[in-house]
Amino acid sequence: MRVAVVGATGLVGSTFLKVLNERDLGITELFLFASSRSAGKKIDFKGKECLVEELREDSFKGRDIDIALFSAGGEISLKYAPLAAQEGILVIDNSSAWRMNKEVPLIVPEVNPQEAFKHKGIIANPNCSTIQCMAPLKILANKYGIKRVVYSTYQAVSGTGHKGIVDLEEGLKGNPPKTYPHQIVNNCLPHIDVFLDNGYTKEEKKMIDETRKILDLPELPVTATCVRVPVINSHSVSINVELEKDFDIDELKKELASLDGIILLDEVEKNVYPLPVNATGKDEVFVGRIRRDESVKYGVNLWTVADNIRKGAATNAIQIAELFKDRF
Ligand code: A2P
Repeated sequence: MRVAVVGATGLVGSTFLKVLNERDLGITELFLFASSRSAGKKIDFKGKECLVEELREDSFKGRDIDIALFSAGGEISLKYAPLAAQEGILVIDNSSAWRMNKEVPLIVPEVNPQEAFKHKGIIANPNCSTIQCMAPLKILANKYGIKRVVYSTYQAVSGTGHKGIVDLEEGLKGNPPKTYPHQIVNNCLPHIDVFLDNGYTKEEKKMIDETRKILDLPELPVTATCVRVPVINSHSVSINVELEKDFDIDELKKELASLDGIILLDEVEKNVYPLPVNATGKDEVFVGRIRRDESVKYGVNLWTVADNIRKGAATNAIQIAELFKDRF
């Protein structure tokens, strides 16, 4: 398979390379693109040096690329993903630019893989916090029916890219923030992405809209509060779900534990529950603190943690590419 990575020098881009190095996608040639600032740089991939090229309008022409993994921001995806698709390349895009487009499948491979094959050249990788909630919610939707979802997130600074990590590290040395509107050290910022007219942030809207699209429940009542916390990596999400039918907690735990890509960590008597420090570097979603919501008739609370740069971005995108492994 001939693969391109757009944004190869970024936090997600370099994790694409790490995950590609660990998994066997059958890559025969790799093309790396970034801005002019990185052109000429060499990056090692499986013992071979790969040259970083400046991304240009003609970058995809005549190169016989099969799949292009994009993570260079929404503006770049809006402009260059259609140019790549025109050349017959399957684009898997990590930005939010194409996610809600009706022609573009939005895929979590454990949840809706069949939708991926309806693509018209572009497939979108969902928002990082949304990805880690989808497999547990799919189980709940299938088995018990979902009435309403309430998300509260605790999101790591790596979700903002290198510059988020710099704000936390510099803040720890006493320096003022350059990226966030307030210090992130010793703080929680209920503000991720821009504010919209209804008082929600765009991150919260992404979680709401993308959940409905991935679960194919367009009318599902969903609300979210997204919070940036002083954690370097791995997002945590509290999910409160109201169900249509009664359920058995032990049965639900068994069901979740049996899913591919989920690790159940739920032994509170031993202080065992998912933590960002343990999820970092892993590809699975960790789920725990599963308990009945006693304030409603049929409700459940779950705590999920996942590496936002791996399962929340690079790994999920590469798992999408793997669905097409036999087609190229
Ligand atoms: P570069 O390193 O050359 O700036 P992050 O999300 O970690 O900030 O990474 C963003 C990625 O997007 C980087 O690889 C960056 O390349 C790339 N990028 C930014 N602007 C452009 C551009 N105009 N054309 C191509 N790639 C870009």
